[in-house]
Amino acid sequence: MKLAVVGGGSTYTPELIDGFARLRDTLPVEELVLVDPAADRLELVGGLARRIFAKQDHAGRITTTTDLDAGVAGADAVLLQLRVGGQAARNQDETWPLECGCVGQETTGAGGLAKALRTVPVVLDIAERVRRTNPDAWIIDFTNPVGIVTRALLQAGHKAVGLCNVAIGFQRKFARLLDVNPAEVHLDHVGLNHLTWELGVRLGGPDGENVLPKLLAEHGDAIADDLHLSRKLVDRLGVVPSYYLRYFYAHDEVVRELGTKPSRAAEVAAMEKELLEMYGDPALDEKPELLAKRGGAFYSEAAVDLAASLLGGGGSPVQVVNTYNKGTLPFLPDDAVIEVQARVGHDGAVPLAVPALDPLYAGLIANVTAYEDLALEAALRGGRDRVFKALLSHPLIGQYDRAEQLTDRLIAHNREHLAWA
Ligand code: G6P
Ligand code: MN
Repeated sequence: MKLAVVGGGSTYTPELIDGFARLRDTLPVEELVLVDPAADRLELVGGLARRIFAKQDHAGRITTTTDLDAGVAGADAVLLQLRVGGQAARNQDETWPLECGCVGQETTGAGGLAKALRTVPVVLDIAERVRRTNPDAWIIDFTNPVGIVTRALLQAGHKAVGLCNVAIGFQRKFARLLDVNPAEVHLDHVGLNHLTWELGVRLGGPDGENVLPKLLAEHGDAIADDLHLSRKLVDRLGVVPSYYLRYFYAHDEVVRELGTKPSRAAEVAAMEKELLEMYGDPALDEKPELLAKRGGAFYSEAAVDLAASLLGGGGSPVQVVNTYNKGTLPFLPDDAVIEVQARVGHDGAVPLAVPALDPLYAGLIANVTAYEDLALEAALRGGRDRVFKALLSHPLIGQYDRAEQLTDRLIAHNREHLAWA
């Protein structure tokens, strides 16, 4: 089995390699190609990746290349984990929206739209080149904003599934709190990428006993603290929102907070510098502790599980993924991309049924879906007016003067990445 990782020079890659090494029985990777335009990073990351495989006696071959077409040729699955414009562009996404009183975040709000506009054309070009060499290859998209990017891929007819680690993070956390094996924990995870709620936590299978009320009664403080939300709010909801919901439920508080500290991009850039130095040390042969400070915890496990199921191996039959709605949430169009539990196999992902949703969640999901629709239009077709309308439709923006100001800033900061601007 051959896998290619586009954005393989990312500092996240050792996390992935560590997963491939540990979980070789689930996903027997024979050849792994790291593809990245940055040759210097590839050398550092590739070197460590080979040492991790060697230490764990993994016989798989790891190669690196800056040539996308050569790298993906013959791959059974291609993982996309790239960041157009790197941390520098992310830093901008996290900064200029604050000038207009809006959250500055890489996937939520105006920053998320900027990221979508930069990313969608690049990902579609990569996917097209993958399809030209291997029409049967699966594309696993970890590239943000995952909902919009996955929808772009599916709409263009690609064999794609979107992946995020928020659900697996909750699964592991709840398993620890409940003192059970993570595989026992099934989440009634519902929403859109980075806009989800855990409506139930079931033991043993998707139809198992719902232990969420017990979990909240016994560990509500720890769960709320982790999300930086008040226990009172979590109790009133009676469900567990993802930490991205804080940008909605505590928007103004977050804006004030972000104004007083360096951006996450700046933090990550400093960490990346340190990580790359470590990766260059020939004595290092495992993923360093510092990597745990990045947001990608358990990403490797989720990616291995998904690839194994898509490629017909031994992955979990039910996983949380991003895929077409197709009637699962009846208030959304069939071609909206949602993030829910799905049956995953050879032929892709089919969402499990979701019971009727409380309007408290359905309303926000519908609104953000409409935004994602307009955002994808803007990413595919360009133009100031489409950017403005996407921003105006976003529930965290809404007012026309703000949308105007944000539109100007978005275009000014991203001109070099936008073919039409
Ligand atoms: C989580 C999200 C990812 C996001 C990451 C950012 O893992 O699910 O979509 O890319 O956080 O982490 P970072 O360390 O770059 O802030
Ligand atoms: Mn994510």
